[in-house]
Amino acid sequence: MYYPDELIREIREANDIVGVISQYMSLTKRGNGFFGLCPFHGEKTPSFSVNEKEQYYHCFGCGAGGNVFTFVMQMENMTFVEAVQHLAERAHIALPEAELSPKEKQRALRRERMLQATKEAARFYYYQLTRTPQGQGALQYLQKRQVTEAYRRKFGLGYAPVSKGGLASYLLGKGYTEDELLGAGLLSGKQGRIYDRFFNRLMFPIFDSAGRPIAFGGRVMGEGEPKYLNSPESEIFNKRRNLYGMSWAKKSRRDSIMMVEGYMDVLSLHQAGFDNAVASLGTALTKEQAMLIKRYSDQVTLCYDSDGAGTNAARRAIPILEEAGLKVKVIRVPGSKDPDEFIKVSGAQAFEEVIQSAMDPVAFEMMILMQQHGTDTVEGQASTVHDMARRLAQIANDLDRELHIRDVAAKMRVSEASLKEEVESLRRTEGLLEYSRSRGRREKGKEEAADDNAKKLMLAILIQKPQVYPAVRRWISVQDFEEEQDETTQAAENNWCQTVANYIFPALQAGTAPQMADVISCFDLPERQEQVLALAQLEIPEEKQALEKLVTETVKSLKMQSLERSIRSSTDMETLQEAIEQKKALQHLTLTL
Ligand code: CTP
Ligand code: MN
Repeated sequence: MYYPDELIREIREANDIVGVISQYMSLTKRGNGFFGLCPFHGEKTPSFSVNEKEQYYHCFGCGAGGNVFTFVMQMENMTFVEAVQHLAERAHIALPEAELSPKEKQRALRRERMLQATKEAARFYYYQLTRTPQGQGALQYLQKRQVTEAYRRKFGLGYAPVSKGGLASYLLGKGYTEDELLGAGLLSGKQGRIYDRFFNRLMFPIFDSAGRPIAFGGRVMGEGEPKYLNSPESEIFNKRRNLYGMSWAKKSRRDSIMMVEGYMDVLSLHQAGFDNAVASLGTALTKEQAMLIKRYSDQVTLCYDSDGAGTNAARRAIPILEEAGLKVKVIRVPGSKDPDEFIKVSGAQAFEEVIQSAMDPVAFEMMILMQQHGTDTVEGQASTVHDMARRLAQIANDLDRELHIRDVAAKMRVSEASLKEEVESLRRTEGLLEYSRSRGRREKGKEEAADDNAKKLMLAILIQKPQVYPAVRRWISVQDFEEEQDETTQAAENNWCQTVANYIFPALQAGTAPQMADVISCFDLPERQEQVLALAQLEIPEEKQALEKLVTETVKSLKMQSLERSIRSSTDMETLQEAIEQKKALQHLTLTL
């Protein structure tokens, strides 16, 4: 946290959320809330709601949500601190110098300088491309590939010259240190013997979704290996969390994000009017990237190259995207290797038609299997049906599975009943196998999930019904939200519950109701803010008896888990004894409100 909490609160209270949001869009009062067309995804009927009393917004369509700070962050592409400054100014509140620990200050400054250096490098490359004789070749190459001047500028393309020390001496001359430039991946080598990382390459600056250049992808001019050289991972460039083209695609009015493989494909598609195209950065699609897409759209269209590698990449990407809650469609460009080539040969209108013919993932799988096994022979058809049955067996939702079974049966001209029987029998054996194979692991997973649910539920209850606190205070405290030390990834994922607990317990002890909007301010990451916001959407019963039951069960479950944790880790007899006693008492607990 950069500014003191009280100040953040003061700024928030001085900026009524309805007033701020109304500056960007029109809101209509309906019932006890305000509604409007969601500015974060395209829609025709309003599902974006603003809660004036609690000072937060939520979109029932795309799941976007937060407080006045997050709204400004998303609308203006600002960081949390920038949004705070912006809103302070709007309310004429004077800000002190931001408070950072010396170490944080140093780190922030280094990052800032690395970002600045990357921006200067982009300018340098742009200049080399457009203003120097040595850039001529690359400029002609772009012409040959039909990149217009407007899009060359928009994408900030540049050229890294053949000579190996141009960028180094330029940036060192501007006062950047070797260490900063090596850190930003602009230079290579060891200190003292350093050189430009990129030479004789067409340079694609990679922007983060807020539009700041954070890295480069460089395409070799002429022959040479590798064809593309990318900036390495660094303090400013996280490949897993970024997508090439997102800063433009997020503004698209199209109803999906289109994933393609190459930088050139992204450029070409944008130029042809498909301004929703993005590409992952020379690596397989990650969960983080799927979540990034989900922030801006509910749908994703996969348009990978029609070769074997592209097909496999699409097959691997589908479950990752579906898990992030995205609706997936797949398109294949007929007759060409990639969308760039297709558009050059057949034009934008033809590509629009290709989009219209998008397949769902099941149909895509069927197409691949038919190609693999062939459709001319009975054997080929049989193999396709058997493999398809395996794919259909993975569809968890009964209704979806049934509809797909019907569709595949019709297309493969087999009876629906026999396909269904095969699928269901596969599900039975697979389910049993899976269970025996991973029994241990699974049980543990379940326990963790239950633990987690209890934490979230407890927090949701305390936030929505603070009057419950006196009844639970004897049992539950901040310590019950702690994570076990050794659980690395899981712990990092979950300790947001602890952060929330740390925030609300002091308030409850002091007899005040924690405000959702304040709780959200504890987090900078929009994903986290959304998780926290989900606590306010959990439906906690109003009716006394039902509430008592829920509170009792939640306290039992949460306390039980945390007692077991302390039993596992306790080193002295006394704590162990006490934990065991408490566990016994817990079994007969009934809380009354
Ligand atoms: N890529 C990479 N490193 C390589 C090759 C490819 O990082 N050695 C990544 C790049 O992001 C590239 C994408 O994979 O854009 C797709 O590769 P490819 O299809 O070979 O490139 P195109 O974008 O089609 O390039 P071009 O049309 O310029 O040949
Ligand atoms: Mn290509």
